[in-house]
Amino acid sequence: MKSSDDLHANRPRIAVTGGAGFIGSHTAVALYESGYAPVIIDDFRNSAAGVIGKIEGLIGAKLECYAVDCGDIASLSQLFAAPLHGAIHFAADKSVGDSVAEPEQYFANNLGSMAHWIRAMRSHGVAHLVFSSSCTVYGEPDSLPVDEQAPLQEATSPYGYTKQAGEQLLRYAHAASHAADKTTPGSGMGAALLRYFNPIGAHPSAAIGELPLGTPSNLVPFLTQAAAGLRDELVVFGNDYPTADGTCVRDYLHVCDLAEAHVAALQHLEKNPGDFDVFNLGSGSGHSVLDVIRTFEAATGVAVPHRIGPRRPGDVISVYAAAQKAADILGWQTKRSLHVALADAWRWQQQVG
Ligand code: UD1
Repeated sequence: MKSSDDLHANRPRIAVTGGAGFIGSHTAVALYESGYAPVIIDDFRNSAAGVIGKIEGLIGAKLECYAVDCGDIASLSQLFAAPLHGAIHFAADKSVGDSVAEPEQYFANNLGSMAHWIRAMRSHGVAHLVFSSSCTVYGEPDSLPVDEQAPLQEATSPYGYTKQAGEQLLRYAHAASHAADKTTPGSGMGAALLRYFNPIGAHPSAAIGELPLGTPSNLVPFLTQAAAGLRDELVVFGNDYPTADGTCVRDYLHVCDLAEAHVAALQHLEKNPGDFDVFNLGSGSGHSVLDVIRTFEAATGVAVPHRIGPRRPGDVISVYAAAQKAADILGWQTKRSLHVALADAWRWQQQVG
């Protein structure tokens, strides 16, 4: 295995905050495969330290890694000692329910740490930033598919609010960096804000995937645990919505497709230094909860024990992406089907047990 020094010798370094998490770990692999040196910053509050070894196994090289909160800038002097080409900022808490119970934590982590991180990036002249946003910023959209021009709705949870505010922070930071550029040329940064729809699946090797702590609140990890017999049954949250089969509709995309979108966004910023833009990342297709169950069963041959239960408060009825802008500007679109994503999620579930 190559050492992290060898890794740095020829490749642009890209800081990946939250790089041991679900999307961050897959993006670290995609970055390496595209010629970059991912540098992981993760405090492992919601991820396993063993993920780093798994990423290293997939890429065949040692990683540069900092086991700290990305807002703890005093512990990151080594990180900034060598040139950083760009950063992808994933680090955030992401549970809608927990955010309602612990709003202070969500503000402190998703916004406080982020603000420290962005200020450090700007003061070290890091040119490119890719940010993890969410389709949650659209709330219940007025029309479907939802495009980037759709108005943002008032957030229904502290989590959703932190994504909207994170986007706004970057708008201000981008403007400030370009104002400063007039006196300090080269200080203007570029930012790509990526609004994810519903990422699912796992790396086809089953070496990395989603590792929810405790009871999963998201559909696919709960579904695979129910199929594996680790949960009695999946409860479908409501079948009386105004959709084709009465269950909620979402735009599910494979996490490896999503990881590749981050590389495409970074390359877009390299070609368009100082740019600021927002992109939906989704497949463009909506699938109901029952579609997901049926597709999982067809892909794996494994039955999902499930029953219809009450609605979950706060759920949007239907949301899926207009994905054309990412195709036109980033040259990115999803390549992997729902079927493949669910088969990969199942392979991962069987591996983690
Ligand atoms: C939510 C957030 C999203 C966030 C994501 C990750 C909103 C509107 N969306 O997505 O921003 O990035 O969580 O934490 O705030 N379902 C069941 N049974 C279950 C679990 C889920 O039927 O046990 C249904 C839900 O009602 C929903 C669909 O499955 O219709 C997907 O749910 P989930 O995976 O939790 O994601 P979102 O709520 O769409």
